[in-house]
Amino acid sequence: MAPFSSVFLGVWGVFVVILIKESTPVSWEEWWTYDGISGPAFWGLINPEWWLCNKGRRQSPVNLEPTQLLFDPNLQPLHLDKHRINGVLANTGHSVVFAVENDTRHPVNISGGPLSYRYQFHEIHLHFGADDRIGSEHTVDGHAFPAELQIFGFNSQLYNNFSDALHKAQGIVAVSLLLQLGDLSNPELRTFTQQLDKIKYGGQAMEIKRFGVRELLPDTKHYMTYDGSTTMPACHETTTWIILNKPIYITKQQLHALRQLMQGDEKQPNAPLANNFRPPQPLHHRPVRTNIDFNVQGPKNCPTMNRDIYYKANSWK
Ligand SMILES: *[C@@H]1O[C@H](CO)[C@@H](O)[C@H](O)[C@H]1NC(C)=O
Ligand SMILES: *[C@@H]1O[C@H](CO)[C@@H](O)[C@H](O)[C@H]1NC(C)=O
Ligand SMILES: *[C@@H]1O[C@H](CO)[C@@H](O)[C@H](O)[C@H]1NC(C)=O
Repeated sequence: MAPFSSVFLGVWGVFVVILIKESTPVSWEEWWTYDGISGPAFWGLINPEWWLCNKGRRQSPVNLEPTQLLFDPNLQPLHLDKHRINGVLANTGHSVVFAVENDTRHPVNISGGPLSYRYQFHEIHLHFGADDRIGSEHTVDGHAFPAELQIFGFNSQLYNNFSDALHKAQGIVAVSLLLQLGDLSNPELRTFTQQLDKIKYGGQAMEIKRFGVRELLPDTKHYMTYDGSTTMPACHETTTWIILNKPIYITKQQLHALRQLMQGDEKQPNAPLANNFRPPQPLHHRPVRTNIDFNVQGPKNCPTMNRDIYYKANSWK
């Protein structure tokens, strides 16, 4: 009897060890995608902690309707510190993410705009399409852009760090830049796209020194702003969105390089990373405010000039 039961136990021992080995690398946090049965429509059902993704009524991204913008004279100019910082550029399997180094001594502050607090830059996310007609999360008048770059910060006056602020009131700011196809790229964006071969697979990361976050910004003081959520699970409704009223440029070659990135690791590359965007969510009567004063942009008796001040997709070159 004894030899039999020890053999039996031995088999179970191996079985349990295999189960643990197989299951540890797959955490809840990884269990979502941008398509199929783990895609955006199901995020709120996959994990009970992500319920806001399905139930929330102040979700992001949204479609921006140029004719529905509300001019708000109290909106301040947006401020972003201009000094450079070190960080890590990674392929997370969901996005291309640049994160500032931990415990940086000179944080890049984000303030002004619609913000009542000072925020501290934490990371940048890049969303992009498999072809030029799609890729951005926010759309303008129903039009998508080939990519969108989102600069995230956390409220450093109320909270200790980004992960803490994610689920707290007034926790997060996201400054969004829509990327338009052009012949000449934004120079700072090139810092990312030059190195993509080093982060081809999910989980790969590389150091980036002296990155200038503010260098990414287009030359405009005009923006649109609304209260929404993060666009990835858990979809916390703690994000103040600021969408700048001019795109920055990305070249065909840079988009091509982005489209070579894969979600999985070298052994199991899975699908390309491209098309990593959440579709627009209903506004549910939220106002979208702007600091563009339509009335001072052109003489009132010359209505044809007013046409040019609306944010239009595909209209800069
Ligand atoms: C910061 O620390 C966390 C946890 O120790 C680590 O996972 C992360 O990769 C670090 N980030 C950077 C940018 O070094
Ligand atoms: C950014 O904010 C911190 C406090 O969070 C402050 O110590 C620092 O001086 C600010 N940086 C700049 C460049 O103003
Ligand atoms: C963030 O701050 C919270 C609250 O102070 C703390 O419990 C947590 O350990 C911090 N997380 C990181 C990654 O530093």
